[in-house]
Amino acid sequence: MLKIAPSMTPDRFEWGCATSSFQIEGTGEEGGRVPSIWDDFCAQPGRIKDASSGLIACDHFHRYAEDVRLIADLGFKHYRFSIAWSRIVSTSNQLNTHGLDFYKRLLDELEQHGITPNATLFHWDLPSHLEGGWLNRETAYRFADYAQLIAQHLGDRLPRVATLNEPWCSAFLGYDLGVFAPGAQNRESALCAAHHLLLAHGLGVQAWRSERENTALGIVLNPELCDPATPSPQDKYAAMLAECERNECFLNPLFGREWPVELKAQMGTQIQICKEGDLEICAQPLDFIGLNYYTRSIAKAPESDSDKTRGYLFVAPDPTKDLTSIGWEIYPEGLSRVINHLNAKWPLPPIWITENGAADNTPLEDGICHDDLRCNYLQTHLDQLANLLEKGADIRGYYVWSLLDNFEWAQGYSQRFGIVHVDFQTQKRTPKKSALMIQALLHHSTNHDVSHP
Ligand code: FCB
Repeated sequence: MLKIAPSMTPDRFEWGCATSSFQIEGTGEEGGRVPSIWDDFCAQPGRIKDASSGLIACDHFHRYAEDVRLIADLGFKHYRFSIAWSRIVSTSNQLNTHGLDFYKRLLDELEQHGITPNATLFHWDLPSHLEGGWLNRETAYRFADYAQLIAQHLGDRLPRVATLNEPWCSAFLGYDLGVFAPGAQNRESALCAAHHLLLAHGLGVQAWRSERENTALGIVLNPELCDPATPSPQDKYAAMLAECERNECFLNPLFGREWPVELKAQMGTQIQICKEGDLEICAQPLDFIGLNYYTRSIAKAPESDSDKTRGYLFVAPDPTKDLTSIGWEIYPEGLSRVINHLNAKWPLPPIWITENGAADNTPLEDGICHDDLRCNYLQTHLDQLANLLEKGADIRGYYVWSLLDNFEWAQGYSQRFGIVHVDFQTQKRTPKKSALMIQALLHHSTNHDVSHP
């Protein structure tokens, strides 16, 4: 049984589960969906570990009703999902009402089960026809148009909306390290993309608020601590640069502050893409901030030329430490450290933990998945949350990543993050031990009889 602090019972604290469009829906053309950069990336040989794609994924596009029932059965009253931009607009950026209808059906189903939607407008699946992707300033304006469409057509049913999910990944994994779509490897490009993503966020918030004033608007980030590999001044400097890219790069503009000089210097002449007035656009007042937390990073001084441009090199975690199936260090203290660090530096609005979870590839045996690694991971991270809340941090909710095993980006289907097992041959869903543990907690505490630790 999961143990939670009294301040975290579902009557006082929001418990939810999270997914994203590309990872679960399936990407067929049905409903007029247009290709996204992740479809293109999957089609390139060698990009996805198991050479798979999002074509079928969890077939959620057809199975959403069953999935909503599952969410309800597990006792969740909140569900975070993303809307696929590529279902909402045609290649000429006109509204595709069939795509919109899918989300209307999903929202109907959620409503019938008393589940509150928590939507994200962009979780990486950028429509391919937006030329230049995030390197093109126009994409930020197209995002604002798209946000406005959603506000007009679904806005009255969405109480809380995040513009972007983890823009660090879109910018730096997509345009610098090249491991995510679109797979570019250029430092200046990554910084241009980061700037345009922040601009898109600001323009998107403005566009939404021009339609609807009552929606709580925010952004989902994945700030991280980057610890130095050794105490040497070089490694410490490298870790500081890595942290700047991860945190300052996004949080500074969101709160009206310039990028640190180190980041600006890395843009070279491209710094001209940052126009006068952009910072004001980026710094729209936020109603909440979503934080996704999985692990920490370790950085050291650069070795190769490309790492020198970046200023640091990520080091793989120590294999003697506890790692999840994907090889990420299990480091629960990082959740407290990162939130305390952020609160000390920026005037954050209320926080929601919008993703936390572990890859645990334990297979199903006789119809049961004993995902003990995940169960322990969740418990130790919830303990950190309890400490943070006790010390007064303004954290309003916790969403586990993820409801379902799904398409884990460049790892394809090789990493299972779900609390519900998915058999990708039959699409059968089977709640794992972790899901049953959460279910017990949520059902139990809904009956107002919680046993506190
Ligand atoms: C986060 C992503 C999410 C999922 C988890 C494991 O960075 O937001 O889509 O892939 O990692």
